[in-house]
Amino acid sequence: MQALVTRRIPQEGLAVLAQAGVCSFQQWDSDEPIPRSELLAQVAGKHGLLCLLSDRIDKEVLDAAGSNLKVISTMSVGVDHLALEEIKKRGIRVGYTPDILTDATAELAVALLLATSRRLPESMEEVKNGGWTTWKPLWMCGYGLSDSTVGIIGLGRIGQAVARRLKPFGVKKFLYTGSHPKPESAAEFQAEFVPLTKLGEESDFVVVTCSLTPETKGMCNEDFFARMKKTSVFINTSRGAVVNQDDLYQALVSGQIAAAGLDVTTPEPLPTDDPLLALKNCVILPHIGSATYGTRNAMSVLAANNLLAGLKGEKMPSELQL
Ligand code: NDP
Ligand code: DGY
Repeated sequence: MQALVTRRIPQEGLAVLAQAGVCSFQQWDSDEPIPRSELLAQVAGKHGLLCLLSDRIDKEVLDAAGSNLKVISTMSVGVDHLALEEIKKRGIRVGYTPDILTDATAELAVALLLATSRRLPESMEEVKNGGWTTWKPLWMCGYGLSDSTVGIIGLGRIGQAVARRLKPFGVKKFLYTGSHPKPESAAEFQAEFVPLTKLGEESDFVVVTCSLTPETKGMCNEDFFARMKKTSVFINTSRGAVVNQDDLYQALVSGQIAAAGLDVTTPEPLPTDDPLLALKNCVILPHIGSATYGTRNAMSVLAANNLLAGLKGEKMPSELQL
């Protein structure tokens, strides 16, 4: 059997593939994404595909792969880059990498929230550019978590891990929204299930940790930002497309909300002349939620094992139920 690995991935994952002796594999051995034309050419006839969130696996790719393709293993928990209906129709199995990246991503979400609310990048810049003239009572003030209300959009694995980490900062109340209440998950934080509108109106911090679906696409828009408090901070570690970025820009420029911290944007990478990058009250990171050495190694190993299990027709360690 033959597989295609669409990027340079940690050695740990490649070693699992190489040592298994289940398939030969072709790899796009680069830190940059495989060009679309190469993907279409190299996937032809393959039985397995190990891909990343930056590879759009749609009907065109599936057609190019042909009927040999049994398994797609993505080195991500997000699956919004996969044409799931089309994949299901063809009986192709999908592996993904939940759980093992939850801690790293939640940690990054907290780091981003604190960096944004306490204005860390802006403050560091002032130290470098001479703006730090003396200790000033009204200078570089931000917003603290103590006694605050935190609204989590999507109380899934990462959303709960974020709430768990924020609770000891003295958060007074957690709100959450989703497609349905989750009393068991919410109990640990006494979190209240509310409509999105109420979450926007009452939260001092909004943290977006949901998956990107047709329902969540563009969910944080003008109407949502207009409901938020002028003192509130918006954080997104989910996917850029959950947010209407033009509306977010207007909310930040007009002072409708205090600040935003984004680990994900549309597009990625964000062009260096994007207006959001000119705003002091917007902190943008290059999609590094899961970027610890240990987590990325574990993701590559899990993706490799999912691929191998799929090729062998065995139970995958983490299979997406289609
Ligand atoms: P989970 O499946 O555990 O959680 C996803 C959550 O999204 C669920 O709680 C679900 O709630 C919620 N959701 C679905 N529809 C809606 C909706 N309409 N409104 C509000 N919430 C909704 O996934 P994970 O926590 O493991 O990961 C979440 C996402 O985080 C991934 O899909 C990925 O896009 C992103 N991610 C980003 C990373 C980064 O590097 N920045 C790293 C890892 C993940 P319900 O069950 O009620 O539908
Ligand atoms: C994912 O896994 O979906 C992230 O965005 C990257 O780790």
